[in-house]
Amino acid sequence: MKIIAYGIRDDEKPYLDQWSKDQGIEVKAVSELLDEDTVSLAEGYDGAVVYQQKPYTASVLDKLASYGIKSLSLRNVGVDNVDADAIKRNGFTVTNVPAYSPEAIAELTVTQLMRLLRRTPVFDKKQAAGNLMWAPDIADELGHMTVGIVATGRIGRAAMRIYKGFGAKVIAYDVFHNPELEKEGIYVDSMDELYAKADVISLHAPATKENEHLLNDDAFSKMKDGVWILNPARGALIDTDALIRALDNGKVAGAALDVYEDEVGIFNTDFGSFDAIPDERLKNLMKRDNVLVTPHVAFYTRTAVKNMVQFALNNNKQLIETGTAENVVKF
Ligand code: COI
Repeated sequence: MKIIAYGIRDDEKPYLDQWSKDQGIEVKAVSELLDEDTVSLAEGYDGAVVYQQKPYTASVLDKLASYGIKSLSLRNVGVDNVDADAIKRNGFTVTNVPAYSPEAIAELTVTQLMRLLRRTPVFDKKQAAGNLMWAPDIADELGHMTVGIVATGRIGRAAMRIYKGFGAKVIAYDVFHNPELEKEGIYVDSMDELYAKADVISLHAPATKENEHLLNDDAFSKMKDGVWILNPARGALIDTDALIRALDNGKVAGAALDVYEDEVGIFNTDFGSFDAIPDERLKNLMKRDNVLVTPHVAFYTRTAVKNMVQFALNNNKQLIETGTAENVVKF
């Protein structure tokens, strides 16, 4: 059995090598992403392990299938960049890693919320300028707030556990109800109800056609004044222009964004200076004291990276051997 792994970063390589040694399976690691220019490297392999934010296009998937490769294992959770028609047409079986570390995402989400609530970015800035005054940067306490969780999958539930640890009241909206949470009476009946009740809105939904720009002008208008918005999930969930308007008029007190709708090609790039970042709307957000932007790093912990690599390789091995695996994605 021979597996090719695309887009392997230096921080992933030791985990890949360890797996290959432990399993006695040849894994070819290439640093390039899977695209038109690199797909031919897969010829002669039995399966491919991939991770990238840019699209897995129909023509690349058609070529991969023409080499007899039908086992495709993603190292991440989201499958929104995969051409579903090409997957079905070519008879691919695709796996993802749905739980590489829900805590990694949840911990950064709550960290950023706490930084916003306690105004630490503002104090850091004041202190660097020699200003040790308290006022006017009085803080808010999470323990007195209601947090509205949007989607109660693994990440939403991990975030929920931490919010509860701070003493916050937690409510949630999801079309699928988790039986345990149902018993706790945590679910509200509609997003409108969540908007009306939540002081903090914590997004943990995948991107779908239906929820594109879920948070738009209309949604913001239904929220409490001074609501805090957290998005460690997918950029497409928020209409960025509407968020900027809601920040400008004070409806939104602040936001922590680990994702951004136009992040592809921007995040995980060193532009050399702030001014050189080629996205004025993103810079508008980044300049604000009450907005914290991180470049899609919530997943980026040692635990998560190791699990992404090794779980994806396990999935791919299982697919090649048996035609199916634990984490098969339904398209
Ligand atoms: C995912 O797993 O879908 C993510 O969003 C994390 C990715 C940047 C590795």
